[in-house]
Formats: sequence, structure tokens, C-alpha cells
Amino acid sequence: MKGVVLAGGSGTRLHPLTRITNKHLLPIYDRPMISYAIEALVQADITDIMLVTGGTHAGEFLRLLGNGHEYGIERLFYAYQERPGGIAEALGLAERFAADDPVLVILADNIVERGIAGMVQRFGAQEAGARILLTEERDPAHLRHLGVPRFGADGRIERIVEKPEDPPSTYAVTGIYCYAPDVFQVIETLEPSGRGELEITDVNNFYVEQGQMAFDVLEGFWGDAGESIDAYYAVNDFVRAHGANKG
Ligand code: DAU
Repeated sequence: MKGVVLAGGSGTRLHPLTRITNKHLLPIYDRPMISYAIEALVQADITDIMLVTGGTHAGEFLRLLGNGHEYGIERLFYAYQERPGGIAEALGLAERFAADDPVLVILADNIVERGIAGMVQRFGAQEAGARILLTEERDPAHLRHLGVPRFGADGRIERIVEKPEDPPSTYAVTGIYCYAPDVFQVIETLEPSGRGELEITDVNNFYVEQGQMAFDVLEGFWGDAGESIDAYYAVNDFVRAHGANKG
């Protein structure tokens, strides 16, 4: 299994901080944000990694991560996203890197308290389709900023609604996804959404419709440090007090 870390986008929700750097280079406690996503992958034994980023600060990632060996990465590849065309577009840039292997995708602003090795193992047993990581979230105001699954009577995901006005459940889709190699063909069929992006939720709904979507529910803390300045500080406070990526 290969890993894809997505660190592009415009980071407008953290302006003006992100005018002078890339969001994923901002500190979370004592390290740049990106290092937590890298650590989560390496801990799950994923050491063949592609980092996708863009914008004017892309070169700083090379300076920080180099060839990745210091972080336990075997082979580190970089891709450049010309414009923030969406999470699914950014993932599409990893097609040749993936070369018919399944991929674990992580949004570089997502930080978890507990490691993701269990999810990776369960996807290994699954072999086809996709697997996503959900987190329980009871605050409807927060759910309105996220992808939210609707469940059928059988407990399976029936549909994922992106940033719903009226959240259909009390779970959020985190930015950690496992895909079979056919994900790149799915991305080719996507049309830009209302906000002009290729949406990862459309990819996920493809697998939901095929009956090929599995999920795990995360234990412990999950934070999207790029969601708002308050979320950024909440994630900082949590990591400082409790750490991240614990086994
Ligand atoms: O964090 C979880 C949420 O992430 C999910 O609940 C949503 O379903 C999913 O759509 C996504 O929502 P966001 O609104 O938080 O996505 P955002 O546009 O902030 O992008 C998140 C990360 O994806 C960002 O930190 C870097 C990467 N990205 C994003 C875009 C738009 C790219 O690499 N390239 C891009 O063009």
C-alpha cells in the first residue's frame, strides 16, 4: 500500500497566516503540521509516500522533509498541483506513483490521537473498493463544515453529504481514506462541483453506490487544524496536552 499526503489548497480560512507560508507548515505544538500526517503513515508501515502540494511555498516542503529518510520514509515523491482544484484533483496527480497499488490518502491538516494501522490492516483484508474513517461529532454547527454520512437501516453508509445544511447523522468523514487502484478511473469521471473543485465526497459516493464502501469509527481525538483559526488552536492545545498518533 502506498501513501498520498495532500497538502495543497489555498488555506484561506487561516489568512493572513497562510499568505506567508503553506498552511501545512504552520506549527502544531512543536512541529510543522505536515509531520503528523507523515508520522501516521510511517507508523502504519506505509513508507512509499507522495506529497502533493502547490502554491508559492512548495519548495519549503523539500527543505523540511528532504528525501524523507529522517522520518522513516523509504521513498518520498513530490507532485505539484497547479491550482487548488480540489482534493480529488490533487489525488489524481498520484496516479502514476500509485502504479496499480492501493493507496491510503491523508489530508495534511488532519490530526489524530490514535494511530491508523488498524484501518490499514482491515482495508488490506477488504481488497476492493474504499474504506473511510468516521468520527463521532454531535455538534451540528461543526458537522455543517464537514462531510456527513447518512446511514441505511442495515447500518451501511447510504450517502455522504458534503457540508450539509441539515446533518443526516452525528458522524463526520475525516480526511483519511483507503482506495483500491481503480480510484484513479473514478476521478476521471468527476465533474467540478459548485465551488469549482473535484470533490472527494463524489469519489466516496461512487463507492457507496457500488456497495463497496466500508468504514471504521475513530477512537480518540480527531481534529482538522485547517478548518478555522479556533480549530487550529484547539488542535494545538490537544496535541500539546495529550500528544498524537499514539499506538
Ligand atoms: O477534514 C475533513 C473534511 O475534509 C471532510 O469532512 C470533507 O468531507 C472533505 O471535503 C474535506 O473538507 P474541507 O473543507 O476541510 O477540505 P479543504 O478544502 O479544507 O481541504 C483539506 C485539505 O485537502 C487541505 O488541507 C489540503 C488538501 N487539498 C485541498 C484542496 C482544495 C489539496 O491538496 N488540494 C486542493 O485543491
